[in-house]
Formats: sequence, C-alpha cells, structure tokens
Amino acid sequence: MQTNFLVLGIESSCDETGVALVQAHAGARVPTLLAHALHSQIEMHQAYGGVVPELASRDHIRRVLPLTEAVLAESGRALSEVDVVAYTRGPGLAGALLVGAGVACALGAALDRPVLGVHHLEGHLLSPFLSADPPEFPFVALLVSGGHTQLMRVDGVGRYAILGETIDDAAGEAFDKSAKLMGLGYPGGPALSRLAEQGDPAAFKLPRPLLHSGNLDFSFAGLKTAVMTQAKKLGGDLEARKADLAASTQAAIVEVLVKKSLAALKETGLRRIVVAGGVGANRLLRAQLDAACSRLGVRVHYPELHLCTDNGAMIALAAAMRLQSGQQQANRDYAFDVKPRWPLDAIAPGSAAAV
Ligand code: KG4
Ligand code: ZN
Repeated sequence: MQTNFLVLGIESSCDETGVALVQAHAGARVPTLLAHALHSQIEMHQAYGGVVPELASRDHIRRVLPLTEAVLAESGRALSEVDVVAYTRGPGLAGALLVGAGVACALGAALDRPVLGVHHLEGHLLSPFLSADPPEFPFVALLVSGGHTQLMRVDGVGRYAILGETIDDAAGEAFDKSAKLMGLGYPGGPALSRLAEQGDPAAFKLPRPLLHSGNLDFSFAGLKTAVMTQAKKLGGDLEARKADLAASTQAAIVEVLVKKSLAALKETGLRRIVVAGGVGANRLLRAQLDAACSRLGVRVHYPELHLCTDNGAMIALAAAMRLQSGQQQANRDYAFDVKPRWPLDAIAPGSAAAV
C-alpha cells in the first residue's frame, strides 16, 4: 500500500448512515478527516420506541449514495481519486450491514479499487485519533456503546486484549432500557442524562452491580430491574420524581464505569485511557473520569463529541490506520460477507477466529 492514500468509509451497522473521506499521509502518525456526512434515523424509529431493522436497511439504501456525493462535494475530491473503499463488516444488524457492504464493494468493483471490511468497535476505539489531542499507544480503552461494554488493553492497531466486559446488558442498554421504563423515548441515553441534570443522584439507592467483584466485568441487567421496581413503587409519584430517578440511575451506571476503569488502569499500570462509543458522550462520565484521572496523573482521551456515536469517519479512519500499520491489506475480492456478531479480539493478529 502506498503511504499517501484516500479512504472512503461507509457505516451502516444500525440506525445511522455515515460516510466519510479520510486522507492517510506518509510520515504522519494520524490520518486526517477531509469530510464526513451523517444521516440519523432516530426520528424514523422514534414512533416504534426502538430500531426496526427492516426500516433501517431500507433507509440506509436511500441515504448512502447522496451522502457519498455530499462528502465528495465537501472535500472537493472526485470518486475516481478514492484509493480504498471501507465499510463496516460487523457487528450490527445483518440487513443494515449488507447495504454498506454491498455499496462499498460495488463502488470498489466499478472503480477497480480494493475494499476493506472494518470492525465497528475498532472504529469506535480508534475514533479519538481524529480529535485535537490524539492518544499514543499503549492505553486502556473503555468502550461503551449501545451494544457493548468492554475494558481493553490496546498496544497498537489490531492489538487488543479484553480485560473485562459486560456479562449481560451494555451500559448504553442500561441507559436506554431505564429511559424507556421512565417513558423518555428512544434513544434513551441522551434524554435520561438531560433529565438527570435536574435531579438528585442520591435520591434513590440503586445497586452498583459487580462493583466489588474483584474483576473487570460489568453487569447492568439488575440495575434495570431495580429501576423498574422503583418506578412501580413510585406509581403516581413517578412523574414528579422522574428527574431524581434519572439522576440516581445515571449515577449508578457512571460510578461502576469509572471505578472499573480505574481498576483497569491499576491492573495494567498504564497511564492513559481512551473512552469511546456513544455513552462516551455522557457528561457525568466525562466529569467524573476527568476528576479521578487528574488526581492520578492519568491522561484521558475522548473522541470529538459528534464522533462519539456511529459515524463514517471512524470507519474510514480505522481502515486507514490498519492499512498504514501493515495489519491488513485491502483486497479486490468483491464477494463480501457481513458479521452481525463479531468479537473484537477476533481481529487480533494470531487469533484463531481472525479472518
Ligand atoms: O456507539 P453508539 O452510537 O452505537 C452502538 O454502536 O451501539 O452508542 C449508542 C448508545 C445508546 O445506547 C445511547 O443511548 C448512548 O450511546 N448514548 C448516551 C449518550 N449519548 C448516547 N448514553 C448516555 N449519555 C449520553 N449523553
Ligand atoms: Zn457504534
């Protein structure tokens, strides 16, 4: 792979269609984002209280090419200048993934350019490299998205070791399900955290699952049940106490995430942590982690706020960094597949599951 190259990235794993153009430079540690465009399907799914997979796939089909045109127009580049077409290969909704993969491989074949399937979580994990303050390897990563909650040791591109993960619900799911119970709609995380700002985080005693488990695993299913029990107990008073319940729920989730992150730093001896995924946008999480890490002299890195949730930039970036690091070659095999379930450590070099 030449050292200067342009990557077009397409993300379509769930309810956001994202397209971006990233430039990799010879000699530069981090590629640059030339343009990106996003269409969120939130409004469309809101009526159903959650993502409807078939509607998601159809909407990705409608959006992906206009978004690609917008990205090319904004960057002033022509489609023919694209060197590699990257797409999210998994994990995610099968039908939604197939749209991005199909379009990327069709573009690659038409342009006679190689394609590269990217792991969605690797995109999240590397997204802080597009921030004004990019991290350096090695670091601990706290990956908190709608479907995943993992602590990882990251030694380089593709060198990921899972230190702990959720044994049931993800942190984002805990936000979303609790918000749904409180009638806050979808996606619940941002709505719950907004309401929490007006509430008392100590109003309700909610469990901090696995806080003292002695390992780095998480469990959030019990918290959701506790929120449900509390909401039922409040009955007609729920409306008046909703902000307090939201604040107490958020405090429980954030406390577990922060304490386990600190334990991971202690266990690995690393002095740097990267937070990525949708829940990384949470203000309380950022404030508490920043405060704890500054006391310890540990550096914390986040993606830019608008790149915390799903987007095409992180997919183009992850592809560019994989190619630059020699971890992977782009290929001209346009017979694509997608991987709706795909553990992140399966892409580590030497992993039996690596493909
Ligand atoms: O990473 P992401 O966009 O999608 C997945 O790959 O899953 O994460 C979406 C998750 C949702 O659960 C959403 O509720 C949560 O991130 N989220 C938040 C906030 N913004 C998004 N959770 C808490 N506070 C926020 N500000
Ligand atoms: Zn995501």
